[in-house]
Amino acid sequence: MFCDALTMYYKIKSLPAYFEPWNELASSLPDLIREKKLRDAVAELPLLDHNQLREYSEWRLAHLQLSLITAGYVWQNGDKGVTQVLPKSLAYPFFNISSQLGLQPVLSHADLALANWSIIDQNGPYDFENLECLYHLPGGKAADWFCMVTFMVELSFAKCMQSIVRILELLGSAGNLSAGVARHEEQTETEVSQCLQQVSTAMNTMQDSLARMRDNLEANVFFNVIRPFLSGWGGDTNPLPEGLIYEGISDTPVKLTGGSAAQSTTLQVLDALLGIKHIQDKREFLVRMREFMPPEHKHLIEYIEQLPYTLRDFVTSSSNQVVKAAYNHAISTLTELRDYHIQIVKMYVVLPAKKANEGNYESLDNKGTGGTSLIPFLKDIWADTRERLLADNQTSLNASDGHSSVAGLTVLAALAAAAVILGFSAVSALRR
Ligand code: HEM
Repeated sequence: MFCDALTMYYKIKSLPAYFEPWNELASSLPDLIREKKLRDAVAELPLLDHNQLREYSEWRLAHLQLSLITAGYVWQNGDKGVTQVLPKSLAYPFFNISSQLGLQPVLSHADLALANWSIIDQNGPYDFENLECLYHLPGGKAADWFCMVTFMVELSFAKCMQSIVRILELLGSAGNLSAGVARHEEQTETEVSQCLQQVSTAMNTMQDSLARMRDNLEANVFFNVIRPFLSGWGGDTNPLPEGLIYEGISDTPVKLTGGSAAQSTTLQVLDALLGIKHIQDKREFLVRMREFMPPEHKHLIEYIEQLPYTLRDFVTSSSNQVVKAAYNHAISTLTELRDYHIQIVKMYVVLPAKKANEGNYESLDNKGTGGTSLIPFLKDIWADTRERLLADNQTSLNASDGHSSVAGLTVLAALAAAAVILGFSAVSALRR
């Protein structure tokens, strides 16, 4: 189902002829950045009418192109050569396209991981050998590999979306039957267990995909060559502390977090499903990251979070050891995935940051995109996950977690939301 949606989404690799100046610039980005000629090329760019874009995929592709050109424009000359104003020919369409899509006018996960791929042989499998990047960051094949691996992590997750939707459906019907009382049909428990097992399998595959990062991406290349272009603007330690002015939109600079896979929907959907609670600054950060997701992705997380029945309540109020074990297994698998991700962050960010800076981006240190202190922050999120493991004797639970009313949305609505996960929606009618 999701793979069909994938191929449907990518019928185009470039924008229609009217947008050729954007196509050309986006295609020659690494060369122009290396020769430090991108700003000159942007100066020649005509102001194009973004309303000439037609279907959803064109709008997303335009966002991808303009986000990459913007990142190149700002960071081309290193952290000491940043520019405070994005010229109108770039800023005006980029800002408006972003508003139209409900995305931010900055290079983000929705661009690099979700929208920057193409399948080589349409009849072939979705694997590393049969995928390629549409557009390229500085860093050559290593940068492409970074995008592809991140995409494959997303794809691994997409495979369990149907199981997640089925769990929600089963919980909904169990909730309607028993109105909160612990009375679940054995068959329902068995099916929930099976679906949970599929979710755990998908998480294992996500980790396997993430592990492939090491195959073709060296830490110093990621840290010194690729990562600077993922930076945002605004904040005390940022080379653009006041933010970036989008000429033609406003004279007030805009502060924006840069691109990070923390903007991925995957782990936040899993947190919502499994009832993992992050508090204070952790939750604030993760909720802020939702503003960088396609709106349908954000709505899916919010939908699961506000359901009146939770998987955790279902499991803890059951005496069925199989469903409890399946839930605990899912929590352990997610804990393990987060643990593995922390190793990746140490390898690609913390360790290179300790070495002498090799590039022109000294001030973009080992703080996270949100200015967070990385490892303690990620370890807290990891600990919140592990903390939700059920103890052996934990078989009943008070109706907790503040869910009391009947959800207004049906599981069908969740299915619709799920169908657009990853942005590979067949939905082409944009809200104009
Ligand atoms: C070279 C590879 C990667 C590096 C260096 C990296 C780095 C980071 C950093 C520094 C953070 C802290 C928040 C921030 O600063 O934005 C973070 C958070 C996060 N990253 Fe990654 N990341 C990598 C790959 C991935 C991939 C492929 C995914 C999956 C799609 C992912 C998912 C997440 C999530 C979900 C968070 C939020 C914390 C959490 O929920 O555990 N990362 N990452």
